[in-house]
Amino acid sequence: MAMRLEVRGLTVELPTRSGWIRPVNDVSLTLGEGETLGIVGESGSGKTMLALALMGLEPPGARRKGEAWLQRATANGNGAGAGSSKREDMLAAGPSEMRAVRGREIAMVFQEPMTALNPVLRVGAQVEEAIRVHEPSLNVSEIHRRTLDALTRAAVPEPERRARQYPHQLSGGLRQRAMIAMALAAGPGVLIADEPTTALDVTVQKQILELLAALRRELRLSLLFITHDFGVVSQIADRVAVMYAGRVVEEGPAAEVLRHPRHPYTEGLLRAAPRLVRERLASIPGAVPALDALPTGCAFAPRCSRHVAECDVAVPELIHASGASENHRTRCILAR
Ligand SMILES: Nc1ncnc2c1ncn2[C@@H]1O[C@H](COP(=O)(O)OP(=O)(O)O)[C@@H](O)[C@H]1O
Ligand code: SF4
Ligand SMILES: [Mg+2]
Repeated sequence: MAMRLEVRGLTVELPTRSGWIRPVNDVSLTLGEGETLGIVGESGSGKTMLALALMGLEPPGARRKGEAWLQRATANGNGAGAGSSKREDMLAAGPSEMRAVRGREIAMVFQEPMTALNPVLRVGAQVEEAIRVHEPSLNVSEIHRRTLDALTRAAVPEPERRARQYPHQLSGGLRQRAMIAMALAAGPGVLIADEPTTALDVTVQKQILELLAALRRELRLSLLFITHDFGVVSQIADRVAVMYAGRVVEEGPAAEVLRHPRHPYTEGLLRAAPRLVRERLASIPGAVPALDALPTGCAFAPRCSRHVAECDVAVPELIHASGASENHRTRCILAR
């Protein structure tokens, strides 16, 4: 599988009154062509900040460190064999280079489409704009045709009529489809979806997940799928990375992590996932720690039922979990 995205040691620092905090802390991950990586974690674990930092959309004043190599698709759709010029470190790219990459190479859909769509512009005009930015030479009728193609690809029924409507005239599910159409309009190889189904009811959620799965197959799309819900991960992800307090604490093949989690935090999340457990749901006691008051050792220690003194000495390394697949790793001293 050709590599599409390779993130190494991504750290995001934000200035606060009590000093710099790290909502994203030394995160490394890879995403292959046509692959879906699920990023899971409770609210506040740094998932959105990770996505924004990759897109170059982090808040003003933020500092980013690390590398994020994006491998562009070649004309024949095969990422392999391309010259090194096709590989670009997005963290080293300037604002204008990032504008050329965003939408064209990597795109993002958000949890609440209403915040990303412009309420006073017709849906079609917004998709048109997403195409025009990257292909200014297309004429009006070509752009119109491409817009209808994009809406059709996102399974928007009656695309001509929907294109003439305003976002508020669409249901939540249709708005998310329009967002997906817009995100994919310029043909990016990588799509980041940040809780795209969280605001939707279960039936519509399922339809959107099926749409993303179909698009991924048709377009060989690489998907970074962010969610707090392991039930969703089980439906869409090949691999999963679990985040806690800005760090990846467990990663591995989705099926294996779901069946045999190797970090107490992942175990806790799975026990709290409504669609995966039959017995009584058990939420994890306590809350995600404040980023300006992290424990010296394992960040999960205050909530961990298996905590021992050694956990507080240093932040555990992300290590291979003994007896697990080669690419299944966990940040817990128990894994040794
Ligand atoms: N603009 C900001 N300034 C300061 N802290 C922020 C800002 N945005 C997010 N945070 C903090 O960063 C952490 C991660 O947030 P976020 O990435 O939104 O988490 P998630 O998407 O996993 O819920 C949280 O502690 C949040 O309070
Ligand atoms: S390192 Fe210790 S505190 Fe952290 S998850 Fe493992 S057992 Fe729990
Ligand atoms: Mg978020």
